[in-house]
Amino acid sequence: MKATARAHPNIALVKYWGKRDEKLILPHQSSLSVTLGPLSVTTTVEFTGEKGADQIEINGKLAEGSERKRVEEALKLVRAEGGRKLGAAKMVSRGDFPAAAGLASSAAAFAALAVAARAAAGFKRDTRAESILARRGSGSASRSIQGGFVRWNRGRRPDGEDSFGEQLFDEAHWPDLRMLVGMVSREEKEVKSRDGMRSTVDTSPYYPAWTKDAEREVKEIVRHVKRRDLEAVGELAERNAWRMHASALGANPPLCYLKPATLSVIEACRGLRQQGVGVWFTLDAGPNPVLLTTVKDEALAGAIVMAQGATEVVHCAPGGDAQLVETHLF
Ligand code: DP6
Repeated sequence: MKATARAHPNIALVKYWGKRDEKLILPHQSSLSVTLGPLSVTTTVEFTGEKGADQIEINGKLAEGSERKRVEEALKLVRAEGGRKLGAAKMVSRGDFPAAAGLASSAAAFAALAVAARAAAGFKRDTRAESILARRGSGSASRSIQGGFVRWNRGRRPDGEDSFGEQLFDEAHWPDLRMLVGMVSREEKEVKSRDGMRSTVDTSPYYPAWTKDAEREVKEIVRHVKRRDLEAVGELAERNAWRMHASALGANPPLCYLKPATLSVIEACRGLRQQGVGVWFTLDAGPNPVLLTTVKDEALAGAIVMAQGATEVVHCAPGGDAQLVETHLF
């Protein structure tokens, strides 16, 4: 009745931004991401068989408010699927990177929770079911069950059973690809992705334009990733990120996730490219740019981010699948 899982976060190269179903967390468009090793979240879940409330601890603190509610909902779904009296759950989760700083920590967290909770309930591993459960916690978590390059298929069904993450290339496909997270701010962002995308869908006149090209862009990036063509991947990822942010800037009130240092890093990236260095960026709903480069240019790219005032650069490479581990957190 107790299981522990570890999952990596991911960074989208073609992004998810906007839901067609808020309750089931179904996206308006497909997206594609690469898993970020070695960053990870580890989660232990135990179903106690006893009555009472779930006990939920995240990064050393008892979870409260919406964070607690989202975990409770995911645990409830496992109980419903199990059809057995699993009772109240105890969950302890620990991440090795800052939460809510623009990196989707919720992706790794809900992926680890989905794998651990299903295993604790006695289910065999099933990446599709795990991805669907993870998606119910946080959309981008559907792409953190498997490693390497994962496409979250939009799906068509109203029940969401065809909307899950699917690995297209594993982490060994492009081992020298590097994703450098430039920590230009460690503050919690003012508007969380969930609220930001809702407001963009509801109020931005640019939202329909954002969704229009998405499926084509996913197909396009798959072709570029297949050929390991960094220039083509980088150009498309940058364009996609800018368009996502443009749709958010068009919301009412406007949503600007960029800080001055974010733009400095972007400018520096462009400068390096003019000198023949292969480095591009992408940006989630936060101020910390993620540079896309390869081992060859990794040191130079990292140095340029530090020179723009970043406090830290986290170097990542394509990571593997979410896994069950033997060492429990309690
Ligand atoms: C900008 O998955 O955090 O990182 O589904 O509401 O939990 P919810 O949102 P979340 O949004 C991620 C948005 C993004 C782009 C992406 O990862 O595709």
